[in-house]
Amino acid sequence: MKKQTEPKRYMISFDSHTTAHVFTDVLVIGSGVAGLSAAIQAAKHGSVLIVTKEKIDENNTAYAQGGIAVVLSDKDTTAKHIKDTLDAGQGLSDAATVKTIVSEGPRRVNELIEWGASFDKENNHLVFTQEGGHHFPRVIHARGDSTGKEVELTLIRVVKENKNIKVFDHTFVIDLITKDATCNGAVAWHTKKGNMLIWAKRTILATGGCGQVYRETTNPDVATGDGLAMAYRAGAALQDMEFVQFHPTTLYIAGAVRFLITEAVRGEGGILRNKKGERFMPKYHPQAELAPRDVVSQNILKEMQKTGHTHVYIDVRHIPKERLYARFPKIREICASFGIDIARDLIPVRPSAHYMIGGVKVNRFSRTAIKQLYACGEVACTGMHGANRLGSNSLLEGLVTGYMAGTDASKSIRRSKHELFPYTIQEFAGGSKISWLDLNDIGNSLKSLMWRDAGIERDEKHLLEAEDMIEMWCSYVMDKEFTNPAGWELQNMLLVSRLIVASARKRTESRGVHHRSDYPETDNPRWKRHIIMKRLKS
Ligand code: FUM
Repeated sequence: MKKQTEPKRYMISFDSHTTAHVFTDVLVIGSGVAGLSAAIQAAKHGSVLIVTKEKIDENNTAYAQGGIAVVLSDKDTTAKHIKDTLDAGQGLSDAATVKTIVSEGPRRVNELIEWGASFDKENNHLVFTQEGGHHFPRVIHARGDSTGKEVELTLIRVVKENKNIKVFDHTFVIDLITKDATCNGAVAWHTKKGNMLIWAKRTILATGGCGQVYRETTNPDVATGDGLAMAYRAGAALQDMEFVQFHPTTLYIAGAVRFLITEAVRGEGGILRNKKGERFMPKYHPQAELAPRDVVSQNILKEMQKTGHTHVYIDVRHIPKERLYARFPKIREICASFGIDIARDLIPVRPSAHYMIGGVKVNRFSRTAIKQLYACGEVACTGMHGANRLGSNSLLEGLVTGYMAGTDASKSIRRSKHELFPYTIQEFAGGSKISWLDLNDIGNSLKSLMWRDAGIERDEKHLLEAEDMIEMWCSYVMDKEFTNPAGWELQNMLLVSRLIVASARKRTESRGVHHRSDYPETDNPRWKRHIIMKRLKS
């Protein structure tokens, strides 16, 4: 076996005698839909501290466009939504988890509506869109194409009104504090206040995903996989890290941010065309543009290769202009800023990294294998998505698993009559603080490498090349001791990339979003199983 640079248990040195202490019943790390939902539940019976590394509304949730897949139409059924979700998961979803999340979904969404969330309606009735892999229009949306914003702002309002919840923003959580496989909080850093030890009876990880390890991604800058990395360092099991979902349609204009062009555009009739103007999806899948995402992404790539072009196009010119502008106001605005009128022009798009399906393994109460540590939302691998995630199932998952984590955390505190006893920790990470590294350069090279070698299409040769390069960077980055987020984020991104590549090498088959050109078939029953990554010593 090749030698690997194992990450240090803690990324920094700290001494509990000389570090500021903070105490809370429940610590929630992250402020997207899952974290805020968890905090609201946990605050029913105790104090909650939400820690988030940027401002509270800077996360993947706030950028979600399409909507929430939920059974709220009379003509839809829970059984149909479960079936669509399980079919997409290609044998790796956990049926009990899918049932729990889909069945609990309507209650959680109705609660959001009671809290003031306003979803789009026509004649006073909710309107539903159909997205890829769903066989029924069950996706509700808000502000046309800014559903996540509406959900996020509603939850923030509820959080701000709750006297039991405090928020520390612009605070970077560096590592979880553990002893005897039990989590007791986290060590964090604030620009002005410096390091602090946050002692908590229960800790809930809701840090979102890691799209930033790829050059092309819909994810905001904050999505650097910090929660995945800190859970791994603390000894948690990470499951199915090879399953990175690539969204088929991201705006592709040189110099522009990779802005998502929601799947709902195809749900409303948008057609994919190649460079020659030909519609191509019907020849690949009976659901054409509404095939599951992996199928659409892979075939877009095929068309790009065939036509030797950097992208394909979405055509919505046949949809009446007034309807188009009303339904997709944000997309219209962003495209217009680049001189594209969506009612008149084709929209250039290509796939990019969108969602980490794998993550910290949890049970149906969102508990991890580390005592007193929960994970929910994208950072968790709940078993909902299996090998492929249906569009708009993740806001639903975040809402429900956040609710479950918060509820279970507060219940278990009451049951255990747990008192907080901080203890002495004198951690010496031992890394050199002197660094001649150009962090930006390594970060950018890593993203390009991951895009090229561990992207939509993978094979042994490229995965090996990625493994070697990442190991080389790890060998001189992992032993350093950084004093600011840029260094910690790079260490986290290297670790997460290494786990993605190792899992992708291991899975010698194609399934869901994991496509190996050297193993194009799904290998049942051999690979109808999960891949778990866990550090050797914790
Ligand atoms: O296409 C979209 O709006 C994305 C939705 C999702 O990732 O769930």
